[in-house]
Amino acid sequence: MALQDVLIDELRDMYSAENQLVKALPKLAKGAKDATLKQLFSDHLVETKGQVERLKEVFGILGKKPTGSHCNGMEGVIEEGADALEKDEEGPSFDSGIIGAALRTEHYEIAGYEACIAMAKTLGMGDVVSLLTENLNEELAAAKKVKAAGAPIMKAASRQAETPKGPKSGKEKYSAKKSKEDEKKAAPELKKK
Ligand SMILES: [Fe+2]
Ligand SMILES: [Fe+2]
Repeated sequence: MALQDVLIDELRDMYSAENQLVKALPKLAKGAKDATLKQLFSDHLVETKGQVERLKEVFGILGKKPTGSHCNGMEGVIEEGADALEKDEEGPSFDSGIIGAALRTEHYEIAGYEACIAMAKTLGMGDVVSLLTENLNEELAAAKKVKAAGAPIMKAASRQAETPKGPKSGKEKYSAKKSKEDEKKAAPELKKK
């Protein structure tokens, strides 16, 4: 597979990821308790829509269609965000979980764009590199803003009383069981020095 084909696959993944985020970001904006955080997610939704457009431009340059690859990774990351939105935590503690999910999202995108930019640079595709760098810079700025907004929220969360835990949901029980399996599967490898 030539590098250009690999790049196109990666870009289709990014296109799917950004489209998934267009759908997910309003849920984070709605769910977040803190006004700054809400605003941040709403602003980033506007940027994300622009990123989808830039990716379409990239595909225009490459003469390919943008669809063709669903991003499973982003689906998983968004699923983690949905879990954070279901937590019984209150106020700042609840928002701290959302911040964790948002940072995962941004850094997943950052990794994706960095890989695509490296490939496009290698192929000497200056126009593609420029467009992708605009998207990357927005993701880097978004992650920075989420971290900055998160600092006072986490401070407030550290002073909050613990929320009494209700019984585990079916989903939580399944997750706990799977995490035990993860540990068990790793054990033989971890024993090796
Ligand atoms: Fe994005
Ligand atoms: Fe983003």
